[in-house]
Amino acid sequence: MISRRKFLSGLSAMPIAMQPMLAAAQTPLGPLAMPPLLDATGTGRFHLAAQRGTTAFVDAGTSETWGFNQAHLGPTLRIATGQTTAAEVQNTLDEPISVHWHGLMVPGDADGGPHQTISQGETWTPELAITQPTCTAWYHSHVHGSTARQVQKGLAGVLQIVDGQDEARGLPNAYGVDDLTLVLQDRRFDRRGQIDYAPAMPDQMMGFTGDTMVVNGQVGRTAVVPQGLVRLRLVNGSNARIYPLSLSDGREVHLIATDNGYLDHPIALSELTIAPGERFEVLIDFSDGRDIALVSAPNPNEMMGGMMGGASNESAFVVLPFAVDSSLPATKDQLPDDIGGSRPQDDGTGADVRNMTLDMQMGMGMMLRRADNRFSINSAAFAMDQINFDIPRGTVERWSITADMMMHPFHIHGVSFQVLLQGGRAPAPQNTGWKDTVLVHGSAELLVRFGQGASRETPFMYHCHILEHEDGGMMGQFTVG
Ligand code: C2O
Ligand code: CU
Ligand code: CU
Repeated sequence: MISRRKFLSGLSAMPIAMQPMLAAAQTPLGPLAMPPLLDATGTGRFHLAAQRGTTAFVDAGTSETWGFNQAHLGPTLRIATGQTTAAEVQNTLDEPISVHWHGLMVPGDADGGPHQTISQGETWTPELAITQPTCTAWYHSHVHGSTARQVQKGLAGVLQIVDGQDEARGLPNAYGVDDLTLVLQDRRFDRRGQIDYAPAMPDQMMGFTGDTMVVNGQVGRTAVVPQGLVRLRLVNGSNARIYPLSLSDGREVHLIATDNGYLDHPIALSELTIAPGERFEVLIDFSDGRDIALVSAPNPNEMMGGMMGGASNESAFVVLPFAVDSSLPATKDQLPDDIGGSRPQDDGTGADVRNMTLDMQMGMGMMLRRADNRFSINSAAFAMDQINFDIPRGTVERWSITADMMMHPFHIHGVSFQVLLQGGRAPAPQNTGWKDTVLVHGSAELLVRFGQGASRETPFMYHCHILEHEDGGMMGQFTVG
């Protein structure tokens, strides 16, 4: 058992600027809990029920929340590659939802995008035929115009694709012991402890950021870890916040997987930036027994270099303190050299180029527009009834993305891509693996192979993963056939 004193020391060892963002003092509440594990690898099926509940995040009171099979957020779904899993998603809420499997390579009719709403009382039953490699993906609602609010309420969860080979790879794989699932979100709470989501114009422009750090739906908790190698599966489930992550004592994390799977070899990084929609898996060596914390620099996104606003008055903050408990089983202490994954290595020559400009209206121009028409791609705001283009299945395209004004995490459904260039240069090491979401700062070139089919009824989306931008029209749709 870990003592209460240990939790306190995990926090009080941090410099003052590194205290959690939370304004009201919060007593450390104990160990961080993992989302419940819903392992579908044996049965080949799972059931999710979107439901309403209440959650006590902060001392001030409880909040209404939404979740899957529980009051807030959803279980960690574990499905096997090489297997078809029968999903059942039931909606017991009183408005339409959808459930998109972000990071799954499945055809459009199983993708769960905005055309696949599940009405009140209904159940959606897609088949998930998975052949892609092991990765950490996630699922979340995707109703056009309501995604940002529904995800704030809690309609999100983590999804693991597994192949049973992690022990052979030498990777930590004991769920919640040395293999931690961490959903990073930020929220605002009102005086009564309710989630406070009422985006004003600046929140819509910049994307909505909170003042309180929430990990797996919990505030102020400490992750208790064994004295060895620990794996973190980081999921940025925030509406808009970008986290430039590092460890409080400057030690490196070892990146082993990006959005869509393992790297060939670990990459040691002293900073790892995770944007909304992205996932990264890292190993941290706790064998020296020291209590450290995962910390974040302020949200680096700002409008036009800060001239039009940004969160630059923030300071760094604790995302999650760790307390090492030497009584926990530490089964891995050796960093594997060969993880057995891959990195895309194409040079992109010969691929047809498709240009995408992410645009936003400024100031008055923005305020005069309808809520769903403030953002656009190539000057067209998303329209449910308009397919932007059709791509023949098997095509490889080079997508050239341009984004001025601010940074946008760009995501494409149904594919995994290679980042060829970022801002005209070779991609940062963290973006050299297989990706489905990438932070575009100025420009990015992506090499994309379209291997899954999607019809006009259930097309694939491409969009900014700042959810207020996505709901505001910075999204498009395409067919593959
Ligand atoms: Cu994670 Cu289209 O979304
Ligand atoms: Cu997606
Ligand atoms: Cu954006």
